[in-house]
Amino acid sequence: MLKIIFENPWVSLASVFGVFTCYLLLNSYRERIHIQRLGSLPPRAPFYLPFGLDIAFRGLYTTYKHEDLNLWTWLFSHSPNKSSPTVETYIGRQRFIFTADPENIKAILATQFQDYGKGKSFHEDWKHFLGDGIFNSDHENWHASRQLIRPQFVKERMRDLDIFEKHVQSVIVRLGGQGQEVDVAALFYRYTLDGATDYLLGQSVDSQDNPQTDFAESFNEVQRFQSQVARVGPLNVLLPRNSFWRALKRINTFVEPYVEQALRMNLQDLKQLSNQSFLQAVAATGTRDRKVIRDQCVNILLAGRDTTAGTLSFLFMELSKHPEMMAKLRKEILEKVGNFKRPSYEDLKSMPYLKNVMNEVLRLYPSVPFNVSLQREDLSSSQS
Ligand code: HEM
Repeated sequence: MLKIIFENPWVSLASVFGVFTCYLLLNSYRERIHIQRLGSLPPRAPFYLPFGLDIAFRGLYTTYKHEDLNLWTWLFSHSPNKSSPTVETYIGRQRFIFTADPENIKAILATQFQDYGKGKSFHEDWKHFLGDGIFNSDHENWHASRQLIRPQFVKERMRDLDIFEKHVQSVIVRLGGQGQEVDVAALFYRYTLDGATDYLLGQSVDSQDNPQTDFAESFNEVQRFQSQVARVGPLNVLLPRNSFWRALKRINTFVEPYVEQALRMNLQDLKQLSNQSFLQAVAATGTRDRKVIRDQCVNILLAGRDTTAGTLSFLFMELSKHPEMMAKLRKEILEKVGNFKRPSYEDLKSMPYLKNVMNEVLRLYPSVPFNVSLQREDLSSSQS
């Protein structure tokens, strides 16, 4: 028998293929038994091409068409158990679980947080832009980032509202108010960039006054490249990178002087600054590491910009379609804040209709409609 296998190349090839297939099947069987022992297996969405290539193609196509939700609805509607908010599928050997079950999401984000993370390939894909900031780190490094920036998100820092007020005034002027057509999305993307750079670096890029700001264009270009990387996975090595590197260099060149300025200051003086920027506050913790300071600033800029600009754009679109809600909201704001005062933290907290409107906009148009987490088994050290 062995003689036939070794003498005939076709038989050898078929044997290797057979052994390999048996190995994969056995592994897959053991994995499923293991999962079943841990709890239960979710319904599996069907795939029609080998290795789930049709699912992979569907994922790429819907992302390309900006119709990500269609992938989710397709998977759930083709699940053997249509009432289940969780469905699994395989692409190659990789198991993917799609879930809209609040209990699962609670487990991933809270109760079993330690078991999940971004993972090595995410870190690799984003490391030039986000470095080791909070969005690009797992475990101890994530924890260190969290400790470092947490003080900037406490209620007492609400005096930062002054910064945003200045830029809101700039938006209001540009909204017109005479019934003319305004591209609010472009306006809000510039507003959030101005507010965020002011808050983070201590100086705004003022893109509302100068829409062609080098920094704004570079940030857009880097984000455009990163979103392509996220879509094509390992094939991203084929993407042209020249304009990405140029834009990234411009961002770093812009941020560096602020980092240097903060590091040149005596630690005591830095701590006592009355109007610390986010960057100065991070430096005042005692870190002398330029990269740590730069990375956290860029991460927060990414975190706060599109999410807020997108939400505001959808808010204005909905308000323009629902004048009765606009009137009700306006009434609440006028009663609470009046025409001229800047809203305080307490004002913002005591406007229930405003809160409901914002929640409804986020429900209808979630800025982060889905998120990806890797199970801990798949996570190796995700830091460079
Ligand atoms: C509509 C507005 C926003 C939405 C919908 C939103 C949504 C989210 C989501 C879903 C995450 C979890 C991301 C992940 O773990 O991968 C997140 C994390 C985070 N967001 Fe936001 N965000 C918004 C605005 C902001 C703003 C304005 C800032 C800061 C100025 C900010 C700072 C952060 C930070 C620092 C984290 C990381 C938290 C951590 O890992 O502990 N976000 N946000």
